[in-house]
Amino acid sequence: MRRKLVVGNWKMNGSRLLNAELLAGLDGAGPWVSDVAVCAPYPYLADVALSLQGKRIAWGAQDCSSREAGAYTGDVSAAMLAEFGCKYVIVGHSERRAYHAESDQLVADKAKIALAHNLTPIVCVGETLAEREANQTDVVVKRQMSAVIHTLGHCISQVVVAYEPVWAIGTGKTATPEQAQAVHALLRTQLHAATPKSAEMQLLYGGSVKPDNAATLFSQPDIDGGLIGGASLKVADFAAICRAAG
Ligand code: PGA
Repeated sequence: MRRKLVVGNWKMNGSRLLNAELLAGLDGAGPWVSDVAVCAPYPYLADVALSLQGKRIAWGAQDCSSREAGAYTGDVSAAMLAEFGCKYVIVGHSERRAYHAESDQLVADKAKIALAHNLTPIVCVGETLAEREANQTDVVVKRQMSAVIHTLGHCISQVVVAYEPVWAIGTGKTATPEQAQAVHALLRTQLHAATPKSAEMQLLYGGSVKPDNAATLFSQPDIDGGLIGGASLKVADFAAICRAAG
C-alpha cells in the first residue's frame, strides 16, 4: 500500500512572519495520516527547518543546481540543501521549464544530483494546453519522464513524480479525476518498464488542487497525493487537502 504524500509548493511567496504563522497553523491542524511537506523559497529554508524540528511535516526546496559546486552565480547546490536536512527538492516544475528554459535533460541531471545527496527529487511533468489540444499529452509527458528514467536508471524508483498539466496550474481549471488518472496510469506503465518498484512509487497530481476536489483526485488508483500551489498558502485549505489524502 503506497502512502499518500501532500506537498505544498509556496513558489515565490511568503515572508518570515507569514511563514511562521502558516507553519504554526499547520502544526495545530495536524497530524495527518498522509506524509506532508512544504517547499519554501531558499532564504526561508533554515527558518522552516527550525520551525519544523521534531514535527511531522517535512520540508524541501523548489529547485537545485545540476552541478556539484563552483562558478554558478545564483545557484544553490543539492549538497547545500542536504546540509540543512532538506528532504525533498522539486525539479522540472513547469514554471522553471518555461521561464528558465530548463530542458528535459537538465531536469534529469538535477534529479540525479539530488539523489546523489540523498534528497528526494519531486520530478514534475505535464503538457501545455496547446499540446493537450493537439493530442500530444501522452507524447510530451512520456518524453519528459523518459529523460529522467534514462539518466537515473534503476534509481528512478527513488523519485516522486508530479503530473502537473500546465493549463491547470494556478488557473482554477483542474484536470478531471479521469483525465489525471489516465496520465498517471500511463506514467506508472512507463515506470514499470524501467523498475520493478514502480508500484511503490508515489505519483502526485498538481494543478488547482483545492479542498473541494482533493478527495476525488486522491481516490484515483494511481494518484498518491498532490503538489499544491495556491492552496498551500492558506492553513485551512492546505490542512483540508492533507485530510482529504486520508
Ligand atoms: P496550483 O499550483 O495549485 O496553484 O495550481 C500547483 C503547482 O504549480 O505546483
